[in-house]
Amino acid sequence: MRLTHLSSPKGIRVRVGDRQIGSLFFSNPQEVNPEDVQVTFEDVRGMDEAKLEVEEIVDYLKDPEKYSRLGGRLPKGVLLVGPPGTGKTLLARAIAGEAQVPFFHTAGSEFDEVLVGQGARRVRDLFDKAKARAPCIIFIDEIDSVGSKRVSNSIHPYANQTINQLLSEMDGFTRNEGIIVIAATNRVDDLDKALLRPGRFDVRVTVPKPDLAGRVDIFNFYLSKIVHSGAIDPKILAKGSTGFTGADIENMVNQAALKAATDNAVEVTMAYLDEARDRKYGLSRSWTHIGLSVHQRCYSVA
Ligand SMILES: Nc1ncnc2c1ncn2[C@@H]1O[C@H](COP(=O)(O)OP(=O)(O)O)[C@@H](O)[C@H]1O
Ligand SMILES: [Mg+2]
Repeated sequence: MRLTHLSSPKGIRVRVGDRQIGSLFFSNPQEVNPEDVQVTFEDVRGMDEAKLEVEEIVDYLKDPEKYSRLGGRLPKGVLLVGPPGTGKTLLARAIAGEAQVPFFHTAGSEFDEVLVGQGARRVRDLFDKAKARAPCIIFIDEIDSVGSKRVSNSIHPYANQTINQLLSEMDGFTRNEGIIVIAATNRVDDLDKALLRPGRFDVRVTVPKPDLAGRVDIFNFYLSKIVHSGAIDPKILAKGSTGFTGADIENMVNQAALKAATDNAVEVTMAYLDEARDRKYGLSRSWTHIGLSVHQRCYSVA
């Protein structure tokens, strides 16, 4: 095994052979240019209410001047709240795709630091870059990993400085400067309350697990991408998948398509979808079966 350190303008990468196993400095926030964000609201399914709530932001990003002229004040920060896999990241990307603005994608964990002041510096760099590209979106995924309550914390010893920097950056630009900061979390109660004050993440959009109609919509969307039997009824699939997120449904349809391909089937049938769903339920379903057979045996003995 050969360990090498590679110096680059972005920092030091630690490699084993040709595999990168870590970095001492963190790469710059990755900027996805407008042409790279192809996602639109068409791709975001089963959350009409959330889409409606963010429509105004798209409108604003398309033409910030219009809002300034009329004296309208848009939020600086939008917090997307919901369980994992419900499409928060997807929605944020779709806002950028609809408005055709640069999308700066970062994750709270990227602001972890090994050196004092590094997270804070990264936040500053990010906002500097964004200001030069406004109108644009800064997206901070899983903000709870850095934005939890400011306590002394041995895992994230310098997180307080990072949050302070984030707060100061958000206070430092005006509402109509053309930057919208979107953050996502599934643990809003853990967030530092200072982040939620007016002028910061003061708009909250809930992205819940999809209801029955939402699941039908999501099944229809992902089924349309595969070759499937005309006998498949998305409503039945939706009824049998209570509690599934958009990511679960996408995964289920994909698993069914893969299995059908392995079997050289000409199309994906309901049986493949059932099988893929049952695999997700896994143990709980086998227990139902065991429960049932025990019950049947008792019944036949009696
Ligand atoms: N509402 C949805 N409509 C369509 N696809 C979805 C939806 N929710 C999740 N997905 C699919 O699952 C993937 C992961 O979802 P993601 O946006 O990362 O969820 P979150 O950020 O809430 O954890 C998405 O890229 C998309 O392919
Ligand atoms: Mg996400």
